[in-house]
Amino acid sequence: MSDWTNIINAATTNDPLSGAINTPIQLSSTFNQKSFDEFGEYDYARSGNPTRDAGEKAIARLEYGHYGYLFSTGMAAISSVLFTLSAGDHIIVSKHVYGGTFRILEDVLPRWGIMHTFVDFSDVATIEAAIIPETKAIYIETPSNPVLNITDIRAVVALAKQYHVCTIADNTFLSPFLQKPLDLGVDIVVHSATKFLAGHSDILAGAVVVNDKNWPIKFILSKMPLVQR
Ligand SMILES: Cc1ncc(COP(=O)(O)O)c(C=O)c1O
Repeated sequence: MSDWTNIINAATTNDPLSGAINTPIQLSSTFNQKSFDEFGEYDYARSGNPTRDAGEKAIARLEYGHYGYLFSTGMAAISSVLFTLSAGDHIIVSKHVYGGTFRILEDVLPRWGIMHTFVDFSDVATIEAAIIPETKAIYIETPSNPVLNITDIRAVVALAKQYHVCTIADNTFLSPFLQKPLDLGVDIVVHSATKFLAGHSDILAGAVVVNDKNWPIKFILSKMPLVQR
């Protein structure tokens, strides 16, 4: 299937109730249940609702991933991913990273014992030199905002696998149309969907896509059990 066909299929989900080819916007915060102890697919909109579900399936499909999650902003998505780290963990981050990501790493997470090292990602040997026993993840942003620095995703993934470290890639700037980090071996893709994914400067949104259904973000989103995409 071509990327164009994939985009068309991902973006048009027929509403099973009405047949509408545009996904209806579901505003209800809470959903009625069959009985006190018999729950349906949706119960509370923070955990999921049919509109968000359609968007999450779409981003998972566009990134060739299994599980998609949508957030109110890109920073909400990135923060939620970083919140899966624990006190004592260390993360290696490209020194050319979006300002909001820089600030949460520099000003917030150290207060909770989550440490980082900023490194020039144009040289894989420098990344390797920054790996310590506490390193749990390597965070790539390519091309980076604002200086459009390019990282060789395959090379960083190969290094991360060698050290059993997870990789996170911010794919905001190229979008899945031009770059699919999961196909290159990355574990977690994040987006500011506010930018090229939305495309019209009229919404704020964030996204995360993974292949591993056991990845702990489901607890942060109170999303249990996960829906297979
Ligand atoms: C590469 C990148 N990541 C993350 C963000 C944060 O996204 P948001 O503004 O949707 O919170 C931005 C915003 O400009 C960005 O350019």
